[in-house]
Amino acid sequence: MIEMREVNKTYLMGGQPLQALKDLDLNVGPGEYLSVMGPSGSGKSTLLNMIGLLDRPDSGSYRLNDEPTEALSEEARAALRRDNIGFIFQAFHLVGRLSAFENVELPMVLAGVAPAERKRAVNGVLDQVGLLSRSHHRPNQLSGGQLQRVAIARAIVMKPRILLADEPTGNLDQQSGRDIVEVLENLNQEGITLIVVTHDMAMGKRARRRGQMVDGAIVSDDLQSSGAAHAPG
Ligand SMILES: Nc1ncnc2c1ncn2[C@@H]1O[C@H](COP(=O)(O)OP(=O)(O)OP(=O)(O)O)[C@@H](O)[C@H]1O
Ligand SMILES: [Mg+2]
Repeated sequence: MIEMREVNKTYLMGGQPLQALKDLDLNVGPGEYLSVMGPSGSGKSTLLNMIGLLDRPDSGSYRLNDEPTEALSEEARAALRRDNIGFIFQAFHLVGRLSAFENVELPMVLAGVAPAERKRAVNGVLDQVGLLSRSHHRPNQLSGGQLQRVAIARAIVMKPRILLADEPTGNLDQQSGRDIVEVLENLNQEGITLIVVTHDMAMGKRARRRGQMVDGAIVSDDLQSSGAAHAPG
């Protein structure tokens, strides 16, 4: 469903070109669980933004669900993103003055979904992440782990087929981090394609497929015969 060929991305920093992605090739199929690890600055977030259609390659091709994305307008890219992609970030990115319910509802409001259907879907995903009892709490009334659960609920409320997570446990204590990994892995077991960028070796190792990035390219890409489902703990 994700097919990248020789994708290049260069940023200009003070007139100096900085190549964030270098002839990057990547194929990801439906239902995969891929972790991406690598040193700071190796291009992991750039890659996720590219997959999530938040950024465009300078050259190379990116097909999402067999559709070439390079020539699409911003509107078409936004629609494709809305229908296919959910994003989770290290810093949660919730709206501070909105309740948990309203934060999760936001993508549906923007998509013009009717209130009754919104309510059903939002309560459904809040229940799924174990936060139904915190619906009316605002972000400053929630713990880090709970904030990330709200962010996950928001990311999946539109039923995306692909979930992209950039350091989802980076701001969490160990136990909350483990809980978040479990929520993400349950979603993957229900069929969502899961791509997780992480510095946490233990988390990266849980994925069935493990990619390693160095200097804007994927230098190793291992598919394990046993993944999280079989790992103890
Ligand atoms: N908007 C931007 N403008 C200029 N340079 C950028 C921009 N975004 C990223 N870069 C540069 O591109 C390179 C790759 O950045 P990226 O954020 O993808 O790295 P990363 O692997 O996610 O690192 P980290 O582990 O620290 O999050 C870095 O050298 C970074 O400085
Ligand atoms: Mg990053």
